[in-house]
Amino acid sequence: MSILVRPSRVVLALSLVGVCAFAFGALAADPVEADETAPVPTAGGAEVFAQNCVACHGPRGDGDGPAAASLTPKPRKLSSKEIMSKISDDTIFNTVKKGGAAFGKSPLMPPFAHLTDAQVKDLVAHIRTLCNCKYVP
Ligand code: HEC
Repeated sequence: MSILVRPSRVVLALSLVGVCAFAFGALAADPVEADETAPVPTAGGAEVFAQNCVACHGPRGDGDGPAAASLTPKPRKLSSKEIMSKISDDTIFNTVKKGGAAFGKSPLMPPFAHLTDAQVKDLVAHIRTLCNCKYVP
């Protein structure tokens, strides 16, 4: 009996979640999870940056977002080759995920634990375009 019910539920759920769920591949097997992650698109770094970082770091990463004026220390100048070539991709990744406080930096750099690893990697790539630089160990 239950064997007959389950597949029809899956088919119904998949049809509700729609084409998007299929695009997420593995997530399509779990429609509930697919729904929860639906508002988080696999957007490019520029879009994720605009949504989460610009308020403090500014549109070009100059550290001049509208919220920056009231912050001490100031948001890192992500556009600076000099500064950003000294910060590794892993450090950027972890700082974004866990926040500044986890690494002895200011808690004003908040954690973005809700961003997916793929989104944070996109962010790292976007920041590298802002500074036009690579990590120089
Ligand atoms: C509420 C303001 C605020 C927001 C929003 C914010 N930051 Fe920051 N960020 C800061 C501040 C302030 C610092 C400087 C911390 C310090 O100097 O101790 C910082 C520092 C950094 C650093 C430098 C870390 C290091 O090792 O020195 C990176 C990289 C960074 N932010 C990336 C981001 C990204 C990417 C986002 C968006 C996902 C973001 N920030 C959102 C305020 C913010």
